[in-house]
Amino acid sequence: MAAHANEQAAVAMPDSYSADAAAAVLQSGGNAVDAAVTAGFVLAVTLPEAGNIGGGGFMLIRHKGKADFVDYREKAPLQAHKDMYLDEQGNVITEKPLYGILASGVPGSVMGMWEAHQKYGSKPWQELLEPAIRLAEQGFLPHEKLVRSTQGYIKRVRQNRHGRNFDQYFDGMQADKPFKQPELAATLKRIAAQGPKDFYQGQTAKLLVEFMRQRGGLINMEDMAKYRAVWRQPISADWQGYQVLSAPPPSSGGLVLVQMLKMQAELANQFNGLEHNSAQYIHLLAELAKLGFADRAEYMGDPDFYQVPVTPLLADAYIEQRAKQVNPTAISNTDEVKPGLKESEDTTHYSVVDKWGNAVSTTTTINLSFGSGVVVDGAGFILNNEMDDFSAKPGVPNFFGAVGKEANEIAPQKRMLSSMTPTILLKGDKVEMVTGSPGGTTIISSVFQSILNRVLFDMNAQEVVDAPRIHHQLLPKDVIRHHSGLSEGAKKRLEDMGYSLNNQRFGDLQVISRNPLGGLEAASETSGRGKSLVF
Ligand code: DON
Repeated sequence: MAAHANEQAAVAMPDSYSADAAAAVLQSGGNAVDAAVTAGFVLAVTLPEAGNIGGGGFMLIRHKGKADFVDYREKAPLQAHKDMYLDEQGNVITEKPLYGILASGVPGSVMGMWEAHQKYGSKPWQELLEPAIRLAEQGFLPHEKLVRSTQGYIKRVRQNRHGRNFDQYFDGMQADKPFKQPELAATLKRIAAQGPKDFYQGQTAKLLVEFMRQRGGLINMEDMAKYRAVWRQPISADWQGYQVLSAPPPSSGGLVLVQMLKMQAELANQFNGLEHNSAQYIHLLAELAKLGFADRAEYMGDPDFYQVPVTPLLADAYIEQRAKQVNPTAISNTDEVKPGLKESEDTTHYSVVDKWGNAVSTTTTINLSFGSGVVVDGAGFILNNEMDDFSAKPGVPNFFGAVGKEANEIAPQKRMLSSMTPTILLKGDKVEMVTGSPGGTTIISSVFQSILNRVLFDMNAQEVVDAPRIHHQLLPKDVIRHHSGLSEGAKKRLEDMGYSLNNQRFGDLQVISRNPLGGLEAASETSGRGKSLVF
């Protein structure tokens, strides 16, 4: 849904409850971080596919002209080990990091929200949690799209349980009936009163750990007590007269995004005059993605465990040399696209801009829709299945088809590599665009193309989010995933070049951008259930 221009503050949210609650915080004098904290907790109630307190995320903040980034990604439990998802033959047991009690990392969201609020919040913490508590206690009216996905998921759980108890909590959700979550309401009340002390050391931690113990899970009290969110320096780069701020490791998002943007600028001549989503344009994007994803698989992981070569990966000379490997006329052979340094579906995103020009770009996740499908008994929140984002075995693709090696192998206390790419574009000292999306590895493509749509093709916010997008990630070989809406001519030409096309929707962009008159626009994808407001 589109919103109007020339106003001061804006939100772009994945559902109407979060949009209304965040807008109310801004309208009553709260800043962008206050609004983001409120949205984060509301989404834990009204967007069970992805909103969470049992998962993690990244919040990119621009406050009073300064950029900051809080990493509240989940961590592997102390008892995790490198081969924990392999069978006796050394093969990956695909379901194990995806479903049930062993799929979860130690949740980071409550600590992330707390840290962001401690450093930048202006309204009382308790007040910011009130809307979420009310929606959990008194119930909210589920959108029919939510009811459909919940019922679909329950059906799959009942066909093959894999240790999931999701149906005990979410069966009975109806579109026209308030859906109440009393245990979650009680948990949120404890978090409102005690902050992270409750979640990581108090009653909620005890409920979670006892639940883990009963079911053979790994997360213990020490894991919980040791959890910390980390303030990190955002990735920052100049591109086409803009300053791009994005997610640093343990996300691969900011690095691959900036690599692709810089390679695009390097090849500006080849992009010049290309029609949006023409075969040639899509081919060039796929070539850039091949190179970015080859580096992702080799070099990216938790920077606290593995030295990610951030500066070399973004160095101008390196980008120049990588861009030269783009083949403008034919598909580069996948087997020959190597990482370059040597020789020398569920997540959610929300964007906020306040009337002071501060901005927040947050992507948060429990990984797949409804996470591990496990709800903590007595505490009423869904646990993530983020462990699947580790590389369970070198070269074996995870759910999103991403491969990795040592950089992203499992180790106790380590954060799994992410593709989440909350991003802010500045022009001078003004926020020009706040963008982000869910979608696993496709996130990087969605964010990259949202920026190109805005900057190269002058699209307004609604066009930016609704224009059909493509995704390529090196493997599977020469497969381009795409939205409906590409021209028949472009599709034919890409197939003639040797690409296999896979029409499958991905992503849910939530974008705020500045229009040529200097006003704000905000937009959520028409296919989703998001809501955007400018006021
Ligand atoms: O951190 C990541 O990259 C993934 N766990 C995100 C998962 C996701 O976006 C699923 N959404 N559809």
